[in-house]
Amino acid sequence: MSTILVTGGTGYIGSHTVVELMREGMEVVIVDNLSNSNLEVLDGIEAIAGKRPHFEEMDLRERDATYRVFEKYAGVDAIIHFAAFKAVGESVEKPLAYYENNLLSLIHLLEAMDRYGVDHMVFSSSCTVYGEPDSLPVTEDSPIKKATSPYGNTKQICEEILQDSQASSPGKGLISLRYFNPIGAHPSAMIGELPSGVPNNLIPFITQTAIGIREQLSVFGDDYNTPDGSAIRDYINVVDLARAHVKAIRRLLEKRQKQAYEVFNLGTGRGLSVFEVIRAFEKVTGQPLNFRVVDRREGDVEQVYADTTYANTELGWKAEIGIEETLLSAWDWEKYIRSKS
Ligand code: NAD
Ligand code: UFG
Repeated sequence: MSTILVTGGTGYIGSHTVVELMREGMEVVIVDNLSNSNLEVLDGIEAIAGKRPHFEEMDLRERDATYRVFEKYAGVDAIIHFAAFKAVGESVEKPLAYYENNLLSLIHLLEAMDRYGVDHMVFSSSCTVYGEPDSLPVTEDSPIKKATSPYGNTKQICEEILQDSQASSPGKGLISLRYFNPIGAHPSAMIGELPSGVPNNLIPFITQTAIGIREQLSVFGDDYNTPDGSAIRDYINVVDLARAHVKAIRRLLEKRQKQAYEVFNLGTGRGLSVFEVIRAFEKVTGQPLNFRVVDRREGDVEQVYADTTYANTELGWKAEIGIEETLLSAWDWEKYIRSKS
């Protein structure tokens, strides 16, 4: 049985991935400092997967603490590295905290891999590395644009660190997964996204408006050069996304990589506008959403969606869950967390 160390495994995408790994019979060790998640997530994972993953509360910014995890769980076969700070706006306010957390955590893990003989890692990257793309859909070969935020820059630097680290150590197999816009929750509604404070992202803002926590959704701009004027993104269901990680882990463990450092886009291949998302949400929930159009949000790109051919053919992965089912899962999750509070 393979043992996978999942950093940030109590977080949003990490928790869904842990469930999929456990369903595939893999042993999971989660490490998380709970800076953006809580221990109740472990109950949700256990309820879905029928088993509780190992859990260590620790901070990857501490090298010795990182090493201690590898000493305690000898025999880790691969790492999935989710742990990071991820709020674009906050990264502009606190750039050093972002560089410290996102870069140091990765460096400590790579050092631990060398020291304890772990050869494989899957890394959480983002389509933010493409910035405003010159042409659509975006392939893995599309140019990397200068980052528009310290957060985005940490993802670009981390990808470079991975590439350099792999080049210096040919035995290592590394994969960066560039997520487009992950949304939704597990269909059981037992795990999902827990945004702290006022959500920055579209879907949590929609569900919080629909349930009455927020008065009105602001649509950031209707004067883009798109069919209905609102911005376009590639919204990918979090369970579909989680399953891609299982495929990436298998590819590494079975040594099926074409190159020792690989990059995959993870999206649906389909762009949806903000108005299309609102309409789909209203349709599945049956209730009108209170929204108004305001100015564009600074730093937003007009449109971005993935060419997923490489992930389809090489990983054998394809997004399968449709937007309506996904929005319904986000809505079910919102209702569940509010019923608990
Ligand atoms: P999340 O905040 O829900 O999960 C991250 C987890 O990492 C949290 O549980 C947090 O407590 C933990 N963590 C942070 N710093 C840590 C540290 N130093 N030591 C130990 N644990 C630490 O975020 P998420 O949405 O699940 O994102 C996971 C990864 O995917 C991140 O790397 C993020 O940048 C990347 N990503 C996310 C999105 C998105 O829209 N959610 C898009 C592209 C990429
Ligand atoms: N939007 C609104 N109103 C809101 C929130 C968002 O109209 O209240 C619009 C945005 O302008 C954008 C779209 O909805 O056009 C999606 O916005 P999100 O904030 O949900 O997502 P982004 O595409 O801006 O960014 C997200 C993550 C980043 C990550 C990026 C790519 O927040 O961390 O996806 O993966 F880098």
